[in-house]
Amino acid sequence: MRIRVSGKELSQLKADLAVCFAFEGDRAPRGVGDSRLRRELATQMKAEAFGGRPGDKLVWNGDGRYGPRRFLVMGLGREGGTPGEAIRLGCAGAARAAAGYSARSLALGLPPPAGEVAGEARAAGEGALCGAYQFDRYLTDPARRPVRLRSIEISVSGRGAKRGVELGEVAGKAVCLARDLVNEAPSRLTPRAFARIAAKQARGSGLRCRALGKPEIERAGLSALLAVARGSDEPPRVVHLTYKPTRPAAKRRILLVGKGVTFDSGGLDLKPADAMLTMKMDMSGAATVLATMTALERLGCRVEVHGLLGLVENMTGGAAYKPGDILETHAGKTVEVGNTDAEGRLVLCDLLSHGTRRLKPTHVVDVATLTGACVVALGLRATGLFTRDDRLREALLEASRKAGEKLWPLPMYDEYLQLLQKGPADLCNIGGRWGGAITAALFLGEFLPRELPWAHLDIAGPAFTEVELPDAPIGGTGAAVLTLLRWLEAGTN
Ligand code: BES
Ligand code: MN
Ligand code: ZN
Repeated sequence: MRIRVSGKELSQLKADLAVCFAFEGDRAPRGVGDSRLRRELATQMKAEAFGGRPGDKLVWNGDGRYGPRRFLVMGLGREGGTPGEAIRLGCAGAARAAAGYSARSLALGLPPPAGEVAGEARAAGEGALCGAYQFDRYLTDPARRPVRLRSIEISVSGRGAKRGVELGEVAGKAVCLARDLVNEAPSRLTPRAFARIAAKQARGSGLRCRALGKPEIERAGLSALLAVARGSDEPPRVVHLTYKPTRPAAKRRILLVGKGVTFDSGGLDLKPADAMLTMKMDMSGAATVLATMTALERLGCRVEVHGLLGLVENMTGGAAYKPGDILETHAGKTVEVGNTDAEGRLVLCDLLSHGTRRLKPTHVVDVATLTGACVVALGLRATGLFTRDDRLREALLEASRKAGEKLWPLPMYDEYLQLLQKGPADLCNIGGRWGGAITAALFLGEFLPRELPWAHLDIAGPAFTEVELPDAPIGGTGAAVLTLLRWLEAGTN
């Protein structure tokens, strides 16, 4: 897919479909400089009592008098929200609508910017890329294969517009990479396959990549991670990605840790069928970390970033770890397995202690589809944010606002630690029925130094969608990629 910026009028662009936009209450579309075309579209809007609400669409064939073959006016809702947010969702909606008209080329007319052009151009690029995303590699029946967008031309002028769209394209592509990984079938995207893809992606994006096989993981002492992997015939992998900026802005070293359970059957505490159905998505945290890191060089990120991906399958083979097992972790603390389905924290705790000791980071963020309890608390669209560091909390919240993603803080009450301190080992890997997202976060927090600024992002809800969204089809969403990118670009404060 090609995406370009054009200074030309929307009416003059050659495209199968041209999209322009209107806010609630508008009588004419914005972003149409050609006054004749604008009048004609305004007449249509009046005739159809077009309201400009989000999702509202008006189609007009243009009578063959303009460059584009067809026009679509899309509603952006109320004016005056977060700058760029309406544009991002509008452009995503436009790209998603294109498939419905079998369009191979799309022209977008951006409304005159409310804020700075560069930011809105970036929003347009991000939205267009995310909206155009399709996972169609296994559809062999031409009748069911959607027409693919080949090119998007964005009509926008002003300083920084071109660079803005470029940045949006880079970020949007990262989101699409995360989605592709999540959507891939679990027997194809095994830990080994994931590690191979990480190596390939690293080569194309200026990252160093080192994959640890089972013997190396043993030597590193990641025994809790290995315990989870034991029930599977697929060997585990730990992938270490490194991004070093050419001109570092600050003495910061960020460590990102991703949960990469390529399939979570629950282990011997087997999940029921309906809960297991979507568990190919349990590697979404690792996908988000890899995808984020592939965009750093092209976005000009100026801090050093390390990524650790914990890639395992949680299965029920004869060697599987068992409820009641007592594990020795990398940190030396012992953990009783209360439930083999609470595997994510066992993978992450070893990576957190190994990563912080080896790499001496200044900030740590882990990303994981960790608990169903977080979905109960925040619903399907929001990421749970857990941290004891006020500055890191504010920086991540600010990044999520810029990214247009939902991130919401949940507490880490020390008092609840008791819930994990029971039984024959230092910790148990489950904390009982209540506050499950919080006890999971507290568990992780026991494996790095208290003083170290660390945040845990629970993306169990938003990582995967079972309904179509304004900016994503059913499947993996690439949750938290845009937020992490905004945070890392800001220099992380
Ligand atoms: N991968 C799941 C969490 C999950 C649930 C992700 C739903 C996405 C959607 C995790 O490994 C898990 O099974 N957690 C258990 C923990 C429990 C056994 C303490 C859960 O949430 O039920
Ligand atoms: Mn599980
Ligand atoms: Zn899991």
